[in-house]
Parts: sequence; C-alpha cells; structure tokens
Amino acid sequence: MKSKLFQISFFIFTLIFHFSIVANENIGLENEIDVYLSKMSLEEKVGQLFMVEISYISPEEVREYKIGAILNGGGSFPYGKIDHTSQDWINLADEFYIASSETINGTKSMPVIWGTDAVHGHNNLKGATIFPHNIGLGATRNVELIEKIGVITAKEVAATGLDLTFSPAVSVPRDDRWGRTYEGFSEDPELVAVLGRSLVLGLQGKPKNNFLINNKVLATAKHFIGDGGTLNGVDKGNTVLSELDLKELHLPGYISAVEAGVQVVMASFNSWNGLKLHGNKYLLTNLLKDELNFDGIVLGDWNGHQEVTGCRVDSCPQAINAGLDMFMITESWKSLLKNTIYQAKEGVITKERLDDAVRRVLRVKLRFNILKKGKPSNRVAASDIRRIGSKEHRDIARLAVQQSLVLLKNNKNTLPLNPSKHILVVGNAAKTISRSTGGWSFTWQGSNTENSDFPGATSIYEGIVQKVIAQKGIVEFSKKGRYKTRPDVAILVIGEEPYAEYQGSVNDLFFEESDFNFLETASKFKEEGIPVVTIFLSGRPMWINRELNRSDAFIAAWLPGSEGGGIADVLFTDSTKKDQINFKGKLSFSWPSEANQTSINIGDKEYLPLFPYGYGLDYKDLMQVGLFPEEINQVTDSKLGKVLLEGWPRPGTEVMVSSLSGKSILNTKRVATPKQEVTLEVFDNKIQEDSQRIYFKPGHESRWTLHSLDPISWVKEEEASGVLTFQIKVLEADQKDPLIFFSSCGESCGVSLSLDSYLKKIPHNKWITAGIPLNCMKKNGLDLSKLLIPVGFKTKGNWSIELGKIYLEGGMGGKSIYPCP
Ligand code: BGC
Ligand code: BGC
Repeated sequence: MKSKLFQISFFIFTLIFHFSIVANENIGLENEIDVYLSKMSLEEKVGQLFMVEISYISPEEVREYKIGAILNGGGSFPYGKIDHTSQDWINLADEFYIASSETINGTKSMPVIWGTDAVHGHNNLKGATIFPHNIGLGATRNVELIEKIGVITAKEVAATGLDLTFSPAVSVPRDDRWGRTYEGFSEDPELVAVLGRSLVLGLQGKPKNNFLINNKVLATAKHFIGDGGTLNGVDKGNTVLSELDLKELHLPGYISAVEAGVQVVMASFNSWNGLKLHGNKYLLTNLLKDELNFDGIVLGDWNGHQEVTGCRVDSCPQAINAGLDMFMITESWKSLLKNTIYQAKEGVITKERLDDAVRRVLRVKLRFNILKKGKPSNRVAASDIRRIGSKEHRDIARLAVQQSLVLLKNNKNTLPLNPSKHILVVGNAAKTISRSTGGWSFTWQGSNTENSDFPGATSIYEGIVQKVIAQKGIVEFSKKGRYKTRPDVAILVIGEEPYAEYQGSVNDLFFEESDFNFLETASKFKEEGIPVVTIFLSGRPMWINRELNRSDAFIAAWLPGSEGGGIADVLFTDSTKKDQINFKGKLSFSWPSEANQTSINIGDKEYLPLFPYGYGLDYKDLMQVGLFPEEINQVTDSKLGKVLLEGWPRPGTEVMVSSLSGKSILNTKRVATPKQEVTLEVFDNKIQEDSQRIYFKPGHESRWTLHSLDPISWVKEEEASGVLTFQIKVLEADQKDPLIFFSSCGESCGVSLSLDSYLKKIPHNKWITAGIPLNCMKKNGLDLSKLLIPVGFKTKGNWSIELGKIYLEGGMGGKSIYPCP
C-alpha cells in the first residue's frame, strides 16, 4: 500500500518535474530570443529572413548584409567546383559561418544555416551514398530502414558542415505524369505520413532524446501543400480541391512531420483553387501555424514568391504577410532585401509579423545550437567525413534497393537465376549510373553526368558481374541485344532517362525504351527460347503492357541510386548464403493499364489498374501473369503535348507566307511570296524535313502564319497552365524592326507581342525552346475559344529564323519563358 502510494506520488512528482523542465526550456529559449530581438536592428532582422543561393553571394556579402541563411541549388557546388571534395564543402561552410557570426554589441550574431537538397542521401556531393528515391522507399514500407537512411543522410550532410536538408518531400502524387512523382513515397496520404515521419526522425533525431545533436540536421517537409494534386499533374500548377479533400489528401504528411518535430516547412509553387501558396495566408498561417501549431520556419521555394499576384522577384511583402518566414532567392536578393527593409520600415510588413518571422528563424537556430556547435570544421560531426560513402552506409542503401524492388511478373519461376550460367545483360541503362540515380543526383536534372561523378557507386551491371563471377558463371554485355555465345538467360535493363521537376512532366504514361529496340530484341529472345528478365528503371509507374508480354520476369526497380548491387542480390541464388534474399517490395502507386490512365489511385470509385496498390510478388508466389492488351491509348482529350507543326503542318492546318506582293501556301519544300519578300524552306535538322527556315526581307510587313481550317479552342489548355512552345533558332535579327508574334481569332480579334528584346537577348545560331504562356496571350486580349491563326510571325525588318517543333505543353517546362507584358 505504502509503496503504491509512494510510486504514484513519485510518478506525479516526475511528471511535474518533467513538465517544468520542458516549460523552463521553452521559457528559457523564448527569453533568449527576446534578448536577441531587443538588440537587433531592423536591417539585421530582415536579413535573417533571407536564404540566398551560394552562386550569387559571397561570405563577405553575407557579413555585410547580415543574411540569415544560404543554400546550394541542385548541381551547385562549393566554389563552383564540379570536381570537389568534402573538404571544399566544409571550407566554404567555415567561411560562411565565420562571416556571419560576428560579435555585435557584445552579443554574438546568429550564424547562417546552410540548406541543401539531400533528398536521397547527400546527393549533390561527389562520393556520397545515394539511396533509392522516395518512390522506391515507399515500396519497402520499412519504417526502421527509412529512419536509418535519415540517420546516414544526416551524418553525411553534417560531416560536410551543412545544417539543413530540403527533405522529406511529403508530396502525395496523384497524377503520375507529374515530373516529381518519384519524390513522393506514395499516392496514399497515410503511407506518406508514416514514412515521412521516419525520415524526419532519422534526420533530426528524436525529440527529448537525441534531437538535433551533433550529427543531426534540420529537416524540411515540402512542398506545402497540394504539390502532387495539380490538374493534369502540371508542375507548379493548380490544385483544385475542396478544403476537406485538400486536408484529407495532402495534409497528413505535414501533421506527422510536425508531430515528429520538423523544423522547416517549404511553401509550394502550386496554387490552391487559383491562389499561389506563397501568398496564401489561410493555409500558411491559419492552417499550418495556428491549427497545426507549427513553430518553425516557413521557407519559400526557389524564387517562388514571385508568382504571387502583385509580386515581383525582388518585391513581395504579400508573401511575408501571408506567413512566409524566409525567402529562397537567387540573383535578385539585393533588391529584394532593399525593398523588404523599406516595406518593414513603412509598416507594409508590420513589426509583429517581422518579429514573429525572425523569432521563428532564431528559435530554429537556437534549437539547433548553432552557436555552441561552432564553426563547421570544429564540430564533432565533421569527424564523420571519412564515413561519407563508407561501406557501412552503402550497405544500408543496398538493403534499401533489395527491399524496394517490386516483382511484377515471374512466370514459370524464371527467377531466381542460377549465377553459374551464361548471363547476357542488355542495355546501356545497366552500366550508366545516372539511369539508376535519376534526377537530383550530382546535377539538378541528374543528366549530363559520367559514372566517374559517382565514385564508389556500383552499377546494376557490376552488381551482376560480382555475383556471377563469384559463382563461376559468365556475363556478357550488349548494348542492343546481340551476343557472341547463346546465353542461358537475358537480363534487359530499360527505363526513363533522368529528369527533375517540370522537365520530367509528360503528357501520358506511354513508355518506349529509347536506347535500343526492346520489343524486337525481347521477341527475338523469346523465339530463340532464351528467358527474358526485364529490369525497369523509372520515376513513376508507366504503361508497359508490351514489355511485360515479352518478358518472363519483370521487376519495377524505380530509381535505386548508387548501390545497383542490391538488384543482383535478389535476382540470383547464392550458394555461399544460407537464405535466398526474397522480394519484399509492394507497389505504393497503382499501376496503369492504359497510357492515358494517368491518375488512377487507390480509393477511386472506378479502379481498374493493371496491378493494384500493394501488389508485389515474391518467391513463394506461384502466380502466372497472362498477356495484356497492346493497343496504345495515349492522351487525346487535351491538345497539351500535341505537335502543331514539325517541318510540315498537321492535318487541318496550313502554313502561309504573305506580303504586299501576295501570298503562297506551303505545298512544296520551298515557297516564297511573288516578290520574294518572305521565303520559306523545309529542311532536315534532326530528322527528315522537321524544320523550317524563314527569311524576311526588309521593307513592307511580311508574315508567316499557321492557319487552322476550322476555329480551334485552347481554353482547356489555358486552364491547365498550357504554354505555346516553339523551338527556334535566330540566324539574323534586325537592329531596328522587331519580330512580332501574333495570334488571331478573326477580324480585329487577336494579340500581338513583340519578341524583339526577348529574341535579341537569347543566344543566336543556337536552338532554344521558347514558351509563351497561353494565359499571357489571353491577358493581352486573345479570345482562346476561336483561333484561326494560332501562331503567326510578322516583321518589316530583316530577320532570319529557323523553326522546329511548335507544340502546346503544360507548365513552364524546360524552356525560356517570354516575359509577359
Ligand atoms: C524545388 C525544391 C528545392 C529547391 C532548392 C526548387 O526548385 O522545388 O524542391 O528544394 O528548388 O533547390
Ligand atoms: C537549381 C535547382 C532549382 C531549380 C529551380 C535550378 O537551377 O539548381 O536547385 O530547384 O533551378 O527551377
């Protein structure tokens, strides 16, 4: 009895004691911030709200302008050195730290924090361990493993002196055409919430345990909110949902990340029902800060504030007033700083809002103990530098690869393979590391890299060689499927080329291997009785019925990262090991049965996937997968992606040149107006007759026009953020007379936009992809519902241009966007 009472009172005592410590800690922290705030000038305060990209700012400028944070964008390296070492990172981190931690009025000023996109390992760093992208981790469903990945990523980032990662993405991709599908764990919000939480705990440590201690980094939940829910999967597009649906689908990841203690939330580029998130007070302040009690930093995305109505890249009090606490900014940071200081002085940004934003920044920095941690090279975490890319770290990545593989088909027990046989490996993708690492790997797009940019990595091919050689088998490699000795089995590695963000957005989920003719090769093997095992590398599920039909076994391997050896581990038997490593991966995205089935998700009323959410075979399954229909159904309901012109006009349209002397319709390879004021020829650029060369002679106004025989409408395309896109090369630009783009909807109905300064600024004699947003054409008076001349060019000057493909595309694409007047 006595002891019970004692126990209870002891328990209550501990409870009170515990709460008072937590409360004291909080009071202590807030008091400390108060002291800072009371000593800071307005300029110093505003400076804390800036995160500037390192290619645009020096440590000296950080000191001078009292900047609060820096980042390196994708593929941006310390001192611009592609060939960098970890030491370069830490040296530059030291420089920034020292420059920003001066003693002002007796108090140490608050050093910068450095943020980076360590989204699947410290992926900008040469030699880092690169884990599978989140889409693959989603297939593992393994919370402990993902937490470990967070722990290792934090170690490698902290070892190079950086403080913050822009990860995890808790995006819920609902339309797999989106170029960022692979950054999300799943189409299911609950799974995203569970896995996002694990990654946060791994990166930052556990609250009240090892929270933000030495080898931990600050984490970011992104992109708040609805980035994966945009119409047509358009990157930076519009998410049209009721508040209830928005919260049900896209909020769970933030609830769990905030509960796990995430210190930063990044605002998204997208809009919710037409309103850009960076300016959305209801969502940033009322929902995230007030309702969810998030007390950390709301960070902007890459110049994302400029897309808010009324904002410019260098002026956007609207974003701060909506609840943004820190701008992410590139070249225009100086004028943004000047304008923001002015706006804070004038009260356009209130003192309360400014102080609240600064308080949040200081709170995060103090929690991170940035002052006590000291200069990066002196930190305990720096001793982990030799562990970057270590075997211990890579073994975890390899385990993640093994567990992320989803076995879609394994007829007649084709797998596991006997390694003592003659194995043919087909396809460059097997040897090219970047095909496994995808976007956000060394460079932003993940393309334009060499295998040597990933020292320590193992390609899929090397992984197979290691397994097979060790067990006395033979491996033959072929780019396109030819072999010297008849193999016992062929492993074909195919998939998407690397991409990131909008550059990865597509119009439908149609897949075709671009490196070699897969269908022909696989069919040939089938005829010869050689079993075909296909490894599919992709950032999204895609329409692969034809490939499946020609394979005996088929594996969705996602974007596995630097440890390609994990694939051979599961594919082959291994006589040196007691147990066969089995397939564990289960689909975290529904697999489409048609190329135009672009947004099929678990829970849909009409749910007819090829493979449902959660599907994934293993070696115990005996299931035989039958043949699937091969009819190609691509997206047809929208003209997005539809080519309007490629050398020759499409059916229903014609191209004409006209001037004072008359007009000519393009019907042979070379046409001109009667007096040769405009001449036009179709020529071979990349393929046969895929481009036009147009010469405008100075004098009267001459025109080049693309006519539609029936009026066409681009209203839907405009709503889907469509951009009129054209490949253009300027050979000669007139110094005086502009080249004018126009589009016409009938007599005195249309828009004219001078392309003059725009085309003069872009490099000449070089193909570029230019884009005019349809909403820019609409804003300038075009009625998009009844276009007769969708595209025209006119000038009185001396211009020579070449035109390649002209097409409509969603989002801002990888193009140079015309600055809309
Ligand atoms: C992306 C973010 C990324 C940031 C910094 C943006 O374009 O949307 O996900 O964290 O760039 O590189
Ligand atoms: C940067 C990325 C960034 C992107 C935004 C790139 O130049 O390297 O980090 O996300 O621009 O558009």
